[in-house]
Amino acid sequence: MEDSEKPVVLITGCSDGGIGHELARAFANEKCIVVATSRSLGSMGDLGNDSRVVLKELDVLSNDSIRKVLSDVVERFGRIDIVVNNAGVHCVGPLAEIPMSAVEHTFNTNVYGPMRVIQAVVPHMATRRNGKIVNIGSVTALAPGPWAGAYSATKAALHALTDTLRLELQTFGIKVINVVPGAIRSNFGNSSIANYNRLPEWKLYKPFESSIRSRAEFSQTAKSTPGDEFAKKIVAVVLKKNPPAWFSYGQYSTVSAIMYHLPLFVKDFILRMALKA
Ligand SMILES: NC(=O)c1ccc[n+]([C@@H]2O[C@H](COP(=O)([O-])OP(=O)(O)OC[C@H]3O[C@@H](n4cnc5c(N)ncnc54)[C@H](OP(=O)(O)O)[C@@H]3O)[C@@H](O)[C@H]2O)c1
Repeated sequence: MEDSEKPVVLITGCSDGGIGHELARAFANEKCIVVATSRSLGSMGDLGNDSRVVLKELDVLSNDSIRKVLSDVVERFGRIDIVVNNAGVHCVGPLAEIPMSAVEHTFNTNVYGPMRVIQAVVPHMATRRNGKIVNIGSVTALAPGPWAGAYSATKAALHALTDTLRLELQTFGIKVINVVPGAIRSNFGNSSIANYNRLPEWKLYKPFESSIRSRAEFSQTAKSTPGDEFAKKIVAVVLKKNPPAWFSYGQYSTVSAIMYHLPLFVKDFILRMALKA
């Protein structure tokens, strides 16, 4: 395949060990030109030695950083075919006590981050009447339980934005895909614990400290779906000529879809037991 025929894919949040990193490798394996981005080049590990991948620094909190990377990529490759909004942060703590600064940071990264990227790339894709936008949501939005309410709310917001974008962007030939991971092995638990350790002590919720803390690592167990397996599935779906609007995969994806349809009192009972609220 000539370089001019290969899809150009830009992915946010590609630090070593995370889903973005695995997606970068999986897209490269399918003969895409991959622009892997993260807040610092050094965090992307061995992707730096992969000649199929271009590394760029991109912080989804900064419009300047996003616009600079997008214009560099268009200048170098002439186009951006696929954008994957993968960068995200966890946020754990009871809603009645969690500092608003932590909630705001989570929305700023997980909701306004993808919005910034989308607003920057859509004019380019619309001009070409071609493009795919992939937003990485979460199954937690289907059954938001205790202790990660702010995070679940960001993903529910992203799901809603994705549904609207799909309808609004169709007219410009841009396809929008909601990828909804279950529990996938990554750095998510470690990053979440690191953020959690910076929060003040709980007052009313002190007796629940160990349940709350364990929510930070809930998605990271021996049974979590390996990141490379997840990435391979996602890439196969995204590269289809007509990708589905919604694709969910990974541990808990089926159970979460079932939970979504359960009566609230049943759902609440299960979540209270599972997360010790
Ligand atoms: N793992 C799961 O079980 C799971 C389940 C459902 C959904 N998800 C979603 O999947 C996506 C990837 O998460 P992951 O599991 O791979 O976790 P991860 O290993 O912690 O990766 C998160 C990535 O986002 C980056 N990031 C954070 N803030 C950023 C910012 N301001 N600008 C640019 N990049 C930023 C991180 O960069 P640094 O390394 O610099 O912090 C890292 O590269 C997230 O949207 C997450 O919500 C994960």
